[in-house]
Amino acid sequence: MRQHKLALCKEHYLEWIPEQTERFIEKYKMFTREEKILVAVSGGKDSLSLWDILIRLGYQADGLYLGLGIDGGIDYSHESQRLTEKFANERNLKLHVVDIEKEYGQSIPMLAESSHRGYGKPCAVCGLAKRHEMNRIARDLGYDVLATGHNLDDEAAVLFGNTLSWASEYLLRQGPVLPETSGLARKVKPLCRFYEREMTAYALLSGIEYIYEECPFAEGSQSIFYKETLNQLETTRPGAKLTFYLRFLEARKSGELFIEKNVQQGVLHACPKCGQPTSTPDFCSFCRMIERANVEME
Ligand code: AMP
Ligand code: FES
Ligand code: ZN
Repeated sequence: MRQHKLALCKEHYLEWIPEQTERFIEKYKMFTREEKILVAVSGGKDSLSLWDILIRLGYQADGLYLGLGIDGGIDYSHESQRLTEKFANERNLKLHVVDIEKEYGQSIPMLAESSHRGYGKPCAVCGLAKRHEMNRIARDLGYDVLATGHNLDDEAAVLFGNTLSWASEYLLRQGPVLPETSGLARKVKPLCRFYEREMTAYALLSGIEYIYEECPFAEGSQSIFYKETLNQLETTRPGAKLTFYLRFLEARKSGELFIEKNVQQGVLHACPKCGQPTSTPDFCSFCRMIERANVEME
């Protein structure tokens, strides 16, 4: 790990990652051992490793898998669900499985098709549906906090994109912890300071079976382009990605960023259909998307 000037053997690496995670959980006040955590697991290396680490550290963590109905020629959703269920069964962990199509009559590709004018690529529709469902389920099932497996590469790429367009409102909301607000569960990203390759190493060394393929729709996406750009930077300047992210967090905390002074967060009200907070005037974007898709199907 060039950025830390540190080299570890397998045994110590498998201790180091959970120890560091515990440090981040405490530093950012993410949650305590008394709280109930819902981990969103996709079957990928990050979220399965996160679940593994939280259990090892003695936290009360259950899993949530969202069935998105994505095939893409590699049976993506089925395979990721199979691996997630296998992981949970082998460790005797509680996993909630929610299938979007069973729940709303529409899979992600179907929704993307019927709302392509409003939302563009399936990833936008998918992101909206995942955020909506994760929050709904965390709230309905009484969890204190929702944890996702976002790593440093994910976070730095989002930060990079938002910085390129100075998207102040998004910059204000990005961080390891998004506090609970009325109707929105607290959201945390305990792996946000680990490089993607560090998480790959953890998953491989601890023998976690995960889906190697990325979502078939991710190909050619902007976030992959930003990740590649940052990787080039990292090659010549080891630690650049971590510095970029950490300095942003520091600047935001100390109020140095102009965004703190000038941007007011929009006012939210409850969606008349699902009750979740929204800034749009009537139904929330998710409920409008479902309604439009159903009308088109009729
Ligand atoms: P992504 O948006 O695919 O980069 O995934 C980011 C995080 O969202 C993952 O680390 C998971 O915690 C969560 N996630 C993604 N897809 C799913 C899914 N199908 N079910 C549950 N959680 C998911
Ligand atoms: Fe949602 Fe790929 S995971 S579009
Ligand atoms: Zn709604």
